[in-house]
Amino acid sequence: MLDINKIRADFPILNRKVHGKPLIYFDNGATSQTPQIVIDAIVDYYTNYNANIHRGVHTLSQEATDKYEQARIKIQEHFNAKHSYEIILTAGTTESINIVSSGFSSILKEGDEIIVSALEHHSNIVPWQMMCEKTGAILKVIPMDEDGSLRIDMFDELLSDKTKLVFLNHVSNALGTINPIEEVIEKAHKVGAYVLVDGAQACPHIKPDVQALDVDFYVASAHKMCGPTGVGLLYGKKELLEMLPPYQGGGEMIETVTFEKTTYAGLPHKFEAGTPNICGGIAFGVAIDYMNAIGFDTIQQRENELLVYATDKLSQIEGLKIYGTAKKTSVISFNIEGIHPYDIGSILDKLGIAVRTGHHCAQPIMDYYKIPGTVRASLAFYNTKEEIDTLVEAVKKAKMMLS
Ligand code: ALA
Repeated sequence: MLDINKIRADFPILNRKVHGKPLIYFDNGATSQTPQIVIDAIVDYYTNYNANIHRGVHTLSQEATDKYEQARIKIQEHFNAKHSYEIILTAGTTESINIVSSGFSSILKEGDEIIVSALEHHSNIVPWQMMCEKTGAILKVIPMDEDGSLRIDMFDELLSDKTKLVFLNHVSNALGTINPIEEVIEKAHKVGAYVLVDGAQACPHIKPDVQALDVDFYVASAHKMCGPTGVGLLYGKKELLEMLPPYQGGGEMIETVTFEKTTYAGLPHKFEAGTPNICGGIAFGVAIDYMNAIGFDTIQQRENELLVYATDKLSQIEGLKIYGTAKKTSVISFNIEGIHPYDIGSILDKLGIAVRTGHHCAQPIMDYYKIPGTVRASLAFYNTKEEIDTLVEAVKKAKMMLS
């Protein structure tokens, strides 16, 4: 069981006020809050051993290098990658996807087909469209259903021996839908296609095992997992990362450089040009330790209780519609008939409640429902039922003011 008072005490920001009211933070899908232990790791780095890594003979550089590489191993263990060099530390999910899409731009041919899901964030749509423009590959879409699930029956029809790549999120950021990635991976592999899973919204709730999934690429961001912004990971199977060309040229990603020819470093350095987010990488490792110490079973159980409670209470408000009712994580996307989501979000903010409003960088989902956007309350394990009660009262108040 989770000792909620102890957990909340780990997050100093939860003590602050917004517009004179205690902060209620329900925007965890955008970014999670940061526990003191992660903040301490950041302060410790800049206070005690700030130095560039993989470069210096001096003590500080070696200390920083050791901690950074230890973080990579923690991430490897968390995701159960076979080798630590299959974990590329990036600036976040978006960069991770761009490394793969840019790499495939020089591999795919005109007429090749790639499949994306209708539930994607723009960051798992736009890089592939750019890749299609360069290669002449054709983008196909697995449609969605009213309940926010994917039409997997349609996936079977889209798959063929022309399919080279499939990409979808593990969990939808806008609706919270948990996608059947195991089934998608298995079916895609039968036709020889590779699969990239965007795990940005899954990893705060679920501990993925990349070997058990047999996924080809898995990407995520630290800042949604109690870590800092500006750092994330690209997991790729060794042979695929070796096949892809480097993303950026620069220091650290080379073996030898002459004006005639440059040879590239091996994994993971081939994809890590320039000085990385050293402090961020180290703090990411600490955040992973923090979440594992609580345990993902405990996190899921807690968040599911909150989801059921909030869904029940919010559904009782007349005119309130929740989008996405399929199996999902602790995300509630809703609208109140006749009221713009932005107006509700603004009133909630005045009452100290942080939610996200708008299309959530997932415009195709909003187009499907023919709405401009939703109010999204995305809950984390450190939220409480009392906070949900306050949200429900605040939504009722906003409805009254805006109707
Ligand atoms: N992708 C983040 C969200 O869903 C920013 O809010």
